[in-house]
Amino acid sequence: TREIIIAPSILAADFARLGEEVAAIDTAGADWIHCDVMDGHFVPNISFGADVIKAIRPTTKKIFDVHLMIAPVDPYLESFAKAGADVITVHAEAGAHLDRSLQAIRALGKKAGVSLCPATPESAIAYVLDRVDLVLVMTVNPGFGGQSFLESQLAKIERIKAMIGDRPIRIEVDGGITRDNAAAVAAAGADTLVAGSAVFRGKGAADYATNIAAIRLAAEA
Ligand code: DX5
Ligand code: ZN
Repeated sequence: TREIIIAPSILAADFARLGEEVAAIDTAGADWIHCDVMDGHFVPNISFGADVIKAIRPTTKKIFDVHLMIAPVDPYLESFAKAGADVITVHAEAGAHLDRSLQAIRALGKKAGVSLCPATPESAIAYVLDRVDLVLVMTVNPGFGGQSFLESQLAKIERIKAMIGDRPIRIEVDGGITRDNAAAVAAAGADTLVAGSAVFRGKGAADYATNIAAIRLAAEA
């Protein structure tokens, strides 16, 4: 079984102290830093863009996992690559030319991810599996932190795991992940767990470390 990666979502951080919050989750044992980019068009909320990612990039050496909930996406890929993204994930629903977007990400020298909203079937990514390094299964409807995990996605994770076969592709879950459902998503096949509100709870690095460790322990069980 693959090593579990925990990727706290900074959407749940204190934006007034964003650099310090990134440093705190680094100290607390985060493996990746998950950045949720929302445009108020593809999803009904606006978060932050490439300039904010660039500003916080020097605060940690960890992998920046950039989740683009924007449409169109192609005109912005280069700016996120230059801002310091390591993994760039686009939504299968964000445009007509998914294969082109994924090719463009790899051409920029970055790892390419594809994400599926809860209502999108796994067949939407059947023909791009040779172009991706990561599949992100949304376990809430994208747009907001703090929503409840959708149990309906567990069977989808299992089907995606079977589709992937022996390709070296990570399966990431995002939305409503807690220490209470981490074991179930890992058992279904997820190896990369995003968590926002379940990590950024408490006062700082010490509390964040407890939260990250609890999720990791449950996922590895
Ligand atoms: C939702 C985002 C998630 C979200 C996770 O659109 O993609 O990354 O911030 O937050 P929680 O863990 O609070 O559901
Ligand atoms: Zn996300």
